[in-house]
Amino acid sequence: MIVLKTKEEIDGIRQSCRLLAKLMEEVREEIRPGVTTGQIDRWVYRYITGHGGRPAFLNYGGFPGSACISVNDEVIHGIPGNRQLREGDIVGMDLGINLKGFFSDMARTFPVGKVSPDAAKLMQVTYECLDKGIAAAKCGNRIKDISGAVSAHARSYGYGVVRDYCGHGIGLKLHEEPEVPNYCEFAGKNPRLQSGMVIAIEPMINAGSYEVDVLDDDWTVVTCDGSLSAHFEDTVAVFPDHTEILTRLS
Ligand code: CO
Repeated sequence: MIVLKTKEEIDGIRQSCRLLAKLMEEVREEIRPGVTTGQIDRWVYRYITGHGGRPAFLNYGGFPGSACISVNDEVIHGIPGNRQLREGDIVGMDLGINLKGFFSDMARTFPVGKVSPDAAKLMQVTYECLDKGIAAAKCGNRIKDISGAVSAHARSYGYGVVRDYCGHGIGLKLHEEPEVPNYCEFAGKNPRLQSGMVIAIEPMINAGSYEVDVLDDDWTVVTCDGSLSAHFEDTVAVFPDHTEILTRLS
């Protein structure tokens, strides 16, 4: 069931999203060669709890970190630990906050120092995919309008669009209906976007094939062909006449 949010609920979700957007801006400064993903995770934990929130991912389904940190060929759900970031890596930072019962979800992929032109292009195009998906997320459109906008842009560059993981409804829980896939061949529901819907749109785009696998840690999703992967995500709210990007500071 899709839960439409009241104005008051969207106000609460917006506060959670704004805190998350500030966190994302600040955590960017922590990403540098030599730092470990575990150090970044602890920084994120202190930031969120220090601002009255709870890390939405911590212990979700048993996930052991506050941040999902996915490096290079890791797509999503990377577990923070002893891995040291190196110059030239690209780092997917996926973060979520529960602020007084209101949930936010956001991801950005950041460069560590100077990265290859191919890596920079993949990040740029994936961010454009997110923007195109958001532009299609209009009241009255359908979920697959988002999927089509994201996948068409990625495929025009020959990139692989991850199919096994999707965006989602969000707000009163971390994951709600509907699913928001990034590809059109999706066989599930294709509901119309209505005022009061809050969704997380999150293209996961691979430089090579769309195929992914899960490592033996049961969490980390990687590309099968070892190619780089980028992930960008925003939480948005649908209104009759516009769609608000809740996780961007204007
Ligand atoms: Co998400």
